[in-house]
Amino acid sequence: MADILEELEKRRDAARAGGGAARIAAQHARGKLTARERIEILLDPGSFEEFDMFVEHRSSDFSTDKNRIPGDGVVTGWGTINGRMAYVYAKDFTVLGGSTSETHAQKICKIMDMAMQNGAPVIGLFDSGGARIQEGVAALAGFGEIFKRNVLASGVVPQISVIMGPCAGGDVYSPALTDFVFMVQGTSYMFITGPDVTRTVTHEDVTPEELGGSLVHTTRSSVADGAYENDIVCLEEIRRLYDFLPLNNRAPTPAWPVEDDPRREELSLDTLVPDSANQPYDMMELIRKVSDEADFFEVAAKFAPNIITGFGRIEGATVGFVANQPMALAGVLDSDASRKAARFVRFCDCFNIPMVTFVDVPGFMPGTAQEHGGIIKHGAKLLFAYAEATVPKVTVITRKAYGGAYDVMASKHMRADVNYAWPSAQIAVMGPKGAVEIIFKKEGPDAIPGRMKEYEDRFLNPFVAASRGYIDDVIRPHSTRWRLARALRMLKNKQVAQIWKKHDNIPL
Ligand code: HXC
Repeated sequence: MADILEELEKRRDAARAGGGAARIAAQHARGKLTARERIEILLDPGSFEEFDMFVEHRSSDFSTDKNRIPGDGVVTGWGTINGRMAYVYAKDFTVLGGSTSETHAQKICKIMDMAMQNGAPVIGLFDSGGARIQEGVAALAGFGEIFKRNVLASGVVPQISVIMGPCAGGDVYSPALTDFVFMVQGTSYMFITGPDVTRTVTHEDVTPEELGGSLVHTTRSSVADGAYENDIVCLEEIRRLYDFLPLNNRAPTPAWPVEDDPRREELSLDTLVPDSANQPYDMMELIRKVSDEADFFEVAAKFAPNIITGFGRIEGATVGFVANQPMALAGVLDSDASRKAARFVRFCDCFNIPMVTFVDVPGFMPGTAQEHGGIIKHGAKLLFAYAEATVPKVTVITRKAYGGAYDVMASKHMRADVNYAWPSAQIAVMGPKGAVEIIFKKEGPDAIPGRMKEYEDRFLNPFVAASRGYIDDVIRPHSTRWRLARALRMLKNKQVAQIWKKHDNIPL
């Protein structure tokens, strides 16, 4: 028996060594942790149960039979994050660049199948060069099986991808199919094809950072939802995000013990909206002031900052916040903001996370850039997402709610449940200047100031909408947290009967 135990330990040690000391040192020298070190930070201490550490690839082409490393370049298993179950896989760059072979893919599929069956999220830590080139179609088939499971698991369990090294091919496509993608600044890259192939095909000379670094993907492509300065900070932030997420689409929203009184009044909110309609203010202040302990996890902060999306809590339970940000482009809805918010709304709806929407929107962004870029279709995505969502939806209009953007931003007409307005709300087809210049054009420029006053007196308040029941109540800003808490309590058991359909056809 002693011999067998010794043999077991020897085999375990071989698997734990991955690609060997030199490659581990190279990984560290690049400022990256190893797959196992990452899992240790992500999961609660001592909670990781590993599967398949003795799996080896079956290929022999290109002498690969001389390079069989137990585990085959991916560490898989499950553990807990603050006591809640999570399935995890971490690609090991020290083994053939973390590349995905047939058996490597099978290990990941096993984890994904368990996650769907047992109802817990999947977190993938990526550091990999894509399909293992030596395995040809077997590796492609492996990726196909992963992609299929990404799609089947979508809306069943949350899926989070963390990009922690150079990632290419299938190792960026699979993340793109998941709910959230996060990156590490300076050490992680995402591209379908790397700089060398790019140079050959398009004659562009680009660095990995320029082609697919975290700055590109968090600010321009919107492939990634956030980036952090190093592996440790990144994994700690994933733990923080995890605490907001339900385990699956039938599980309750997590609720944590909280000391923050839901009745807490915030008198400073009474003066948050400036007297001048064109002066910006920070909508983040409102989100933080209504959230428990001001704790807010922002999603896609650097992309389309004119809309804020993220998770907070009220009475200990997760809330998805969407809010126009007057500090960026006056909070206008453009194509990027619409796409960003639509995706977030759909995530919340999949996983029964109640939504709070704060509205201060001057309308949709005009101009050829937006029109030619398809704002009609992108704006429609947000409208569609809000209208189809059946989770509890509570809306507060703080200032402007103009035109189509009024309708889109979780208005009563998009099936929002409770719609509040602050006394400073202005709900109209458009701002006074534009409106008066159209409807009183014939009266000439001298008539404009008087007509503007008339328009402002009539429309720039919440009471016209309230008199029609589109606004349920005009509330005092300082009481917003308590009014939201009450509305969310009231909606706790919301049920919506749906007309049968296979699925809808959101404008993509
Ligand atoms: C087999 C691979 C590999 C791969 C890297 N390696 N990628 N082995 N298959 N896909 C190996 C290297 O040979 C090397 O082994 C070790 O991993 C480290 O790689 P380096 O190139 O030395 O590292 P680095 O300079 O950091 O560059 C990392 C990289 C680059 C950017 C990921 O390796 C690269 O471009 N790899 C190929 C990317 C790619 O085109 N993949 C196929 C995608 S197609 P040694 O032993 O020399 O240290 C795909 C299809 C899926 O995925 C379907 C999509 C829809």
